[in-house]
Amino acid sequence: RWNGTESCTLNHSDTNTIETQSDDLLPPDNNSIVQSITPLKNTKHFLVSAFMDQRVQGFDIRLIGMFRRDSIQELHCFFCCADYTSETTPTKVLQHSDNFGFPFVTTDIMCRIPKKCNATHVTLLTKPKPEKRVDWLPIRNKKTNGGAEERMDFTVCISNLFGDYNNVLQFAQTLEMYRLLGVNRVVIYNTSCGPDLDRLLRSYSQEGFVEIVSWPIDKYMNPSPGWYFSDFGGDIHYFGQLTTLNECIYRSMERSCYVLLNDIDEIIMPYQHDNLKSLMDELQKQHPNVGVFLIENHIFPKHRFEPSGRFHLPKWSGVPGINILEHVYREDPDRKIYHPYKMIVQPRMVKQTSVHNVLQLFGQMYKVPLDICRTIHIRNAMKNISKLQELSVDKRLWDFQEKLIPNVDKVLHNSGLLK
Ligand SMILES: *[C@@H]1O[C@H](CO)[C@@H](O)[C@H](O)[C@H]1NC(C)=O
Ligand SMILES: *[C@@H]1O[C@H](CO)[C@@H](O)[C@H](O)[C@H]1NC(C)=O
Ligand SMILES: *[C@@H]1O[C@H](CO)[C@@H](O)[C@H](O)[C@H]1NC(C)=O
Repeated sequence: RWNGTESCTLNHSDTNTIETQSDDLLPPDNNSIVQSITPLKNTKHFLVSAFMDQRVQGFDIRLIGMFRRDSIQELHCFFCCADYTSETTPTKVLQHSDNFGFPFVTTDIMCRIPKKCNATHVTLLTKPKPEKRVDWLPIRNKKTNGGAEERMDFTVCISNLFGDYNNVLQFAQTLEMYRLLGVNRVVIYNTSCGPDLDRLLRSYSQEGFVEIVSWPIDKYMNPSPGWYFSDFGGDIHYFGQLTTLNECIYRSMERSCYVLLNDIDEIIMPYQHDNLKSLMDELQKQHPNVGVFLIENHIFPKHRFEPSGRFHLPKWSGVPGINILEHVYREDPDRKIYHPYKMIVQPRMVKQTSVHNVLQLFGQMYKVPLDICRTIHIRNAMKNISKLQELSVDKRLWDFQEKLIPNVDKVLHNSGLLK
């Protein structure tokens, strides 16, 4: 039984370890295809992934899905056990509390593996008797021999890319900042993106730093581009970002000590440490029972430019997007109207997450003081400010410019984006 005390040791060698995929099992039946969104037969629901999860007593498996709230029904787990199919087992269906009024909600389905079954794949059935043709989901996070494999330290989960988003310069700069801060892997869920960004991401995913998960949610439902059903309509909150963030936490659970949950226009930035590893070593030592570290979000308006133009580099003028080094003015968050946190979490301490907070966890949460760490969020202004004096000057990003600029040049060059 999970008691939240099993510690995760940060890797102190200098090299970033990129794990090879250990769970690309072949589906047992050639007719079934592993995909990120699987319609669940005879229901209105969709399954996304299945994970081994024995942290809650009485359960072995957690499936993550997108369920229609008006059609929740009894379901049964059905397993593929290495060389035979099992009888079914009962399930517990847990809708996440965050649905923002949309018909579909992120849902966890918990169940047990039958005795003696060496389960490799699972699916859900509407009746408690085995069936012939089913769409199997591979079971991820099965611990392989002794679990001695090396873990990554930090994974960033970027929820959803959609529309024709083509902010290449900010994307490349931000990914390279993550790398300088010690991030080993960035997981990105892709519905669609602009042409230059597509090239950049292909180059990053070939190299292994970025893991692209295809997220064709628009093929299955009408995803909302907004936060609330009442404002935007549609079937599910913001292209399903709550589902992808949860999926990313479970995907990372056995392979990364920490997961950072933030958007691509945000950088979780230590202000007193050179990198995330030394930051978390210290924070975790001071707060051994904390599994969720809340980092306050600070907006750097993209329409305010640093006046000297020192980093307005002509070589980047043909690259679409925001140059983060040019934005050094920082707003104070309006703590009355805005929910201003992003998170660093130990994935094994999280059961269910939302965007700005965790819904269910083992262990404690901690708000990290502002002088230690903030989220740098370069975007449209949040506040209507008339005088520059109402903004703080914050040049923390410049501390990294010497390495950042050549690294960004290199990746832009490699993806053919630097003329
Ligand atoms: C379970 O199945 C996997 C995949 O078929 C196999 O590699 C493994 O040895 C099996 N384990 C046991 C305990 O039978
Ligand atoms: C993202 O998804 C779109 C739509 O399927 C696809 O055209 C594009 O190539 C994908 N990009 C990457 C980097 O996977
Ligand atoms: C911002 O302030 C200006 C000047 O006071 C005003 O004209 C404008 O309507 C304000 N905009 C918003 C979005 O509040």
